[in-house]
Amino acid sequence: MCGGAIGAVDRVWFVMPVGIAGVGHAVPPTVWHNDQLASRGLDTSHEWIASRTGIHRRHIANGIPTSELAVAAARMALIASGLAPDAIDMVIVATTSGDHLGFPSTACLVQDQLGLSRAGAFDLGAACAGFVYALGTGAALATSGGMSHVLVIGADVLSNWVDWTDRRSCVLFGDGAGAVVLSPTAGRGIEYTRFYANGALAPILDIPGGGAREPLSDLVLANRRHLIHMDGKAVFKVAIHAIGSAITQALADTGLNWDEIDWFVPHQANQRIIDQVVETHHIPPHKVLSSIQDYGNTSAASIPLELSLAVQSGRLLPGHRVMCVGFGAGFTWAVSLFEWGVG
Ligand code: ACO
Repeated sequence: MCGGAIGAVDRVWFVMPVGIAGVGHAVPPTVWHNDQLASRGLDTSHEWIASRTGIHRRHIANGIPTSELAVAAARMALIASGLAPDAIDMVIVATTSGDHLGFPSTACLVQDQLGLSRAGAFDLGAACAGFVYALGTGAALATSGGMSHVLVIGADVLSNWVDWTDRRSCVLFGDGAGAVVLSPTAGRGIEYTRFYANGALAPILDIPGGGAREPLSDLVLANRRHLIHMDGKAVFKVAIHAIGSAITQALADTGLNWDEIDWFVPHQANQRIIDQVVETHHIPPHKVLSSIQDYGNTSAASIPLELSLAVQSGRLLPGHRVMCVGFGAGFTWAVSLFEWGVG
C-alpha cells in the first residue's frame, strides 16, 4: 500500500457480549437507472457502468435529508428489537453527509425525531467505513460504558456531494440508511472488531473545498472543489489491499476459517473489488452478500442495508456468524465479526 503510517487499533474483545437485537433500512423512492444518467447528458452507457462496477441503478435522495432516512431505518430496527425509544442509551450516526455542515449533529436530530428521551447522541465520520467503526464504538460503549442499548445508524446522501458532470465518480453512488440496535446477548454477539486508518491516502478520495482548509467561496464553487474528487484507480488498488489484509488479520486473530463464517458482507463500492477479494481470499462465493446492482455505493449505509435485506429475504438467520469489512475515504477501514441475533 502506498506511503504513510497505518494506524491500527488493537483488536477489541468484549467481555460482556453485546449483539444485534434488531436491524432496519430505508432508501429514498427516486431511482435512477444507468440509462437515465446517459440520457441526462453524461457521456456514459449502461453497458460501461454495469460491466465496470456491477451497478444497474441507485436510489437518489432528491431533497430528502439524511436524518429522515436515518429515522426511518432506525424505526424499523427498534420495532425488530422490541425496545421502546426510552430504552436507548446512545445513538451514533455514521455519516459524512449529515443534514448540517458542522452542527447540529444528525444524531441529535434523530434523537429528537425518535423521542429517544434518555439517549446521548453523536455523529461518527469515517466515510464508507463509518458503520463498522460505529458498530465497534457502540459495542464498546455498551459493554464497558455502563450502557445497555445503543442505536447504530449508517446513513449517507452523497448524491448532494457528487459531481454529476464527472462520469468517473458519479455513476458509483446512491443514497440510503441502515440501522441496528445493540443489546446484551446470551449468544456470542460481537466477537471481534479492528479499526485501521492511513491519512496519507486522504488525497485519493476527498471533498477538497467547503471546509476550514478551503472555505466556501465563488472560486471553490466555480472549480467544483466542494464536490467529491476521486482517483478511482488508486482507490480500487488500496481497497483491495486494505480489505484483503484486514480479512487475513481477522482470521489470524480469531483462529476462524471460512467453514466457521456464514456470511461475508463487504462495503459495496464496486462489484469488481468484491469479486477480486473473494477470489484472492478463497471466500466461498455463496457466502457473499451484495446488492450493489440495485443500490450502488451507499457509503456508511451499505453494510447495514445489506444485513437488513438479508434478514428480509430469510438468508441471514439467528446463530449465523458474519464478517463485515468497511473501507472508505480517509483512508479508513475496519472489520467486525459477530453472531447474528441470538436474544
Ligand atoms: N462511462 C464511460 N466511460 C467511462 C466512465 C463512465 N462512467 N468512467 C470512466 N470512463 C472511461 C475513462 O474516461 C477512460 O477512458 P479513456 O481511456 O478514454 O481515458 C476509461 O473509461 C477507463 O477509465 P478508468 O478510470 O481506467 O476505469 P476503471 O476500470 O478504473 O473504472 C472506476 C473506474 C469504476 C471508478 C474504478 O476505478 C473504481 O471503482 N474505483 C474504486 C472507486 C471506489 O470504490 N470509490 C468509493 C470508495 S468508498 C468511500 O469512502 C466513498
